[in-house]
Amino acid sequence: MIIRRPPDLPTAEITDEALYHDRRRWLAATAAAVAGLAVPRSAAALGQGQDDKPTPYDVVTTYNNYYEFGTDKSDPAQNAGGLKVKPWTVSVEGDVKKPGRYDLDDLLKGLPTVERVYRMRCVEAWSMVIPWNGVLLRDLLKKLEPGTNAKFVEFTTLADARQMPGLRYDVLAWPYVEGLRIDEAAHPLTMLATGIYGKPILNQNGAPIRLVVPWKYGFKGGKSIVKIRFMETMPKTAWNLAAPNEYGFYANVNPNVSHPRWSQKTERRLGEFFRRPTLMFNGYADQVGSLYSNLDLRTNY
Ligand code: MTE
Repeated sequence: MIIRRPPDLPTAEITDEALYHDRRRWLAATAAAVAGLAVPRSAAALGQGQDDKPTPYDVVTTYNNYYEFGTDKSDPAQNAGGLKVKPWTVSVEGDVKKPGRYDLDDLLKGLPTVERVYRMRCVEAWSMVIPWNGVLLRDLLKKLEPGTNAKFVEFTTLADARQMPGLRYDVLAWPYVEGLRIDEAAHPLTMLATGIYGKPILNQNGAPIRLVVPWKYGFKGGKSIVKIRFMETMPKTAWNLAAPNEYGFYANVNPNVSHPRWSQKTERRLGEFFRRPTLMFNGYADQVGSLYSNLDLRTNY
């Protein structure tokens, strides 16, 4: 990522969202919503001091990476307001039984909605805890029926120069593209989010639909998706194309592999003073570790 200064936020800017600041209510809501998925037992058992209180709504929605709207953390909240997100069309292409150009409402029709509170860890070594609403990507896969040669899924996001001032700068080879292996896409933690804190997702966070993969660095979570393509070969992703030695395809959170320009051992949870140790797979190792048992995670970063 383009880093101009260490990410920081004055503590005074950080205020709490009333409902979610109430720890007891939050714990109850979390337990009911995710049945233990969001807070793996191993982290607690290891005594890592994981206190996954959701990050205040006003921080989640004002400290963003969405380079199509500018590279400063405050740019997306300032510049994305005018993005037209309805109607919204998503093309489904490649090796899939039900390809087509879907209106977003039709694409998601009939899929169960979920709420999940996930830790999110940016490659820039800051993190947040976000209560997401949306659908599980696996449920959409079941509906679309990928073919047997679909080993990967590619997500292409909107690139509209009339609406996105950041496209004037060739920071990345637009459009922003991300991808997953099909088993990562089908994992029960992987979501397509349409809401945050029970409200429709704001444009700066990726309205009307964005990917959420909590065990990977945040850049996997492509915002404002317009195309989903099923492929036999590994997709060429925007960050990997821009800096292959810095951003690999897998992008699993791994404190043992430093970014070439900084360590990944610790992170700053926005709203907290002390840094915390970064956990393997962002603390979701129990759930996702088996996906990578045959992979050297030092070379496949
Ligand atoms: N998606 C698009 N289209 N453009 C982007 O610049 N930035 C990524 C990801 N998705 C980005 C994107 C990065 S680097 C991060 S850390 C997350 O969005 C940030 O998501 P958030 O701002 O909702 O926390």
